[in-house]
Amino acid sequence: MLRQPLLALSRSEQVKKLVSTLPVSSDIVAGYVPGETTREAIDATAALVDAGLAVTLDHLGEDIADAEQASANVAAYVEVIGQLSSRGLARRVEVSVKLSAIGQALPDSAGPGGGEKIALENAREICRAARNAGTTVTLDMEDHTTTDSTLAILGELRQDFPETGAVLQAALRRTEDDCRRLAHMGSRVRLCKGAYEEPESVAFTEKIDVDTSYVRCLKVLLHGGGYPMIATHDPRLIAIASTIAAEVGREQGTYEFQMLYGVRPEEQKRLAATGETVRVYVPYGKDWYGYLMRRLAERPQNLSFFVKSLVSKK
Ligand code: FDA
Repeated sequence: MLRQPLLALSRSEQVKKLVSTLPVSSDIVAGYVPGETTREAIDATAALVDAGLAVTLDHLGEDIADAEQASANVAAYVEVIGQLSSRGLARRVEVSVKLSAIGQALPDSAGPGGGEKIALENAREICRAARNAGTTVTLDMEDHTTTDSTLAILGELRQDFPETGAVLQAALRRTEDDCRRLAHMGSRVRLCKGAYEEPESVAFTEKIDVDTSYVRCLKVLLHGGGYPMIATHDPRLIAIASTIAAEVGREQGTYEFQMLYGVRPEEQKRLAATGETVRVYVPYGKDWYGYLMRRLAERPQNLSFFVKSLVSKK
């Protein structure tokens, strides 16, 4: 019930200023983000890999203001991919990229072809570095105004880098159709519920409707020829996914589960111990504000803990 107001509040500059004064080491931030530096991200990743988990690393950043910031984010990805390679982690670790962090929303005046073209070229550079290191890239999905653009960029990227993963959000009414289009051989698709505040015209707003949409999409993806990445912490949906996978004769390793860093870590280990591939999404970097607010909005029980952290600034 608090989700929409919290997401709306997170757009206030005053709230952002206040929350951004929290150190990344404060319990509330550190619970979701292992650190701001590449080193901290790689150390957290190595610990997860040692525990039998796979990882996708996200260099935090979204809605950047200019092409220089976009280039800096690309450089951060190339750097972390280089570290994955030199630490021998690239086989178990890929990267997740938000197109808005690498230029998608920049205006037409930012360069020939505008923000979309800049984001495509930047994404190509990250995909090239990932391929050279022996790993892959997944394009995160942002709010519904970006879906067409993101899927168009994905289509272009997949011509040269067919291993590039997509994300689809069960909350959107269009997603079952998008799943059908993307459920083909060689296609990696992460299915999540969707973390953004969306209007009823394009999205299911009741939890039950999002959950039933998730199950319909799961069926399409698990029956299809691609590699489904089942991104949820919801115990019911995890059980349903396992049941459908068994019904359609999918072997372990032909799909994977994904969860966020810090969320249900015991369940991550439990599932991995049953032989499932479990990938943990590890976000890192200085620009953790938007990510943190979406996580808090998902779990309003966190709110009192959050307010206490703000008051004590620890
Ligand atoms: P739900 O919100 O119903 O939670 C189920 C249970 O999980 C809760 O009861 C609680 O126990 C636990 N839980 C969930 N969120 C928690 C939190 N923040 N803190 C503590 N416990 C929590 N979204 C998007 O729009 N675009 C994207 O690209 C991605 N990418 C992505 C990658 C991965 C690997 C995951 C797991 C998720 C995403 N998401 C995302 C986020 C996703 O859309 C969704 O908002 C969250 O996963 C929460 O939804 P659940 O499916 O976990 O269910």
